[in-house]
Amino acid sequence: MTATDSDAAALRRIVAAARPCVQGLAPYVPGARPSTVDEQVCRLASNENPLGPSPKALAALAEPANLSRYPDNDGHALREVLSARHDCPADCLLFGNGSSDLLDLVACAYLEAGRSAAFARHAFVVYPLVVQAAGAEARISAPHPAEHEQPLGHDPETLRERVSETTAVVFIANPNNPTGTVLTDDEIRTLIEALPPQVLVVLDEAYAEYRDPIPAAGRFLEYPQVIVTRTFSKIFGLAGLRIGYALAHPEVVAMLNRVRQPFNVNTLAQQAAVAAVGDEEHVAHSRAANAEGMQRLLEAAHGLQLRPLGTHANFLTLDFGDQAQAVVAYLRERGILVRALPEYELPDWLRFTIGTPDETRILIDALHAWRQS
Ligand SMILES: Cc1ncc(COP(=O)(O)O)c(C=O)c1O
Repeated sequence: MTATDSDAAALRRIVAAARPCVQGLAPYVPGARPSTVDEQVCRLASNENPLGPSPKALAALAEPANLSRYPDNDGHALREVLSARHDCPADCLLFGNGSSDLLDLVACAYLEAGRSAAFARHAFVVYPLVVQAAGAEARISAPHPAEHEQPLGHDPETLRERVSETTAVVFIANPNNPTGTVLTDDEIRTLIEALPPQVLVVLDEAYAEYRDPIPAAGRFLEYPQVIVTRTFSKIFGLAGLRIGYALAHPEVVAMLNRVRQPFNVNTLAQQAAVAAVGDEEHVAHSRAANAEGMQRLLEAAHGLQLRPLGTHANFLTLDFGDQAQAVVAYLRERGILVRALPEYELPDWLRFTIGTPDETRILIDALHAWRQS
């Protein structure tokens, strides 16, 4: 055997030595980005806030931070402002490097081979990833039909039926990405009470601040088996800093803390998040701009006879049938980046983040031009 052959064999062996559940994983596919730093495009593929971060957060980032020191491992300042904001004890809070980090901590603490997690088809794509990475089984429930008032959204009844004696976690995205649908608090409460009490219910509320009214994050704290996750990536416009938080019973928080990496949330993210929580004006402005853009895009979709899914977040998902891939390319050529949804098992649908008023106008004009082409 030549040196090259033995190198190749050694490489094959080390790659094959990874856990089988990891070998079968397809990595997360992020929304499209501009091809160069300078390319001017409408970025409507990743559900970010088109208005950017809160000005108060930007001002906080300009303040001196001692970056030669490790971050505050317990996020004291952010803990204080969020416990006041949500009127909850400080030890109910847990911070993550984005809320995806918190979903991963749940999988790490509660899932392993022989256990399972239940979630609905078309639910946020990080759930199957963290479940499979933990070696657990994904038990996927049938969604509502497309004609339902929450089209393709989570059906709490079928979700409950998918829970078996192996199920340790149920993931619910509320609103869900990419269907933009919601479950009511009554539906969630009924579901929680119908589940065995040892099943951890993860209520992922990444888009909660776009709902009307904004639901209180602590409204399920009476249930020790519920954990609510939120993020600074969406309405707070801080996706690039990676910070999210969870509210849960202090003992559940303590359990998740055992698997949390030390210093998982960086100093600048904490500093900006504290300021962002206090910038109610930016949140109100972002909500109003989103509602207006949503309305305009929805009207255009009706005019173009494109069937929409739910409208409870900062994106709208539309049915293009077998034209979906062609529309992605058509829009890309015109500098508009949108999200195709094959990994959500929605190959006929495209998801559009609500952009600035200009971006919405450019998108609507392009969709009209495509229809006429
Ligand atoms: C439903 C849902 N949950 C969680 C996240 C994760 O967001 P982050 O990790 O940026 O907090 C996203 C991001 O798109 C999402 O759509």
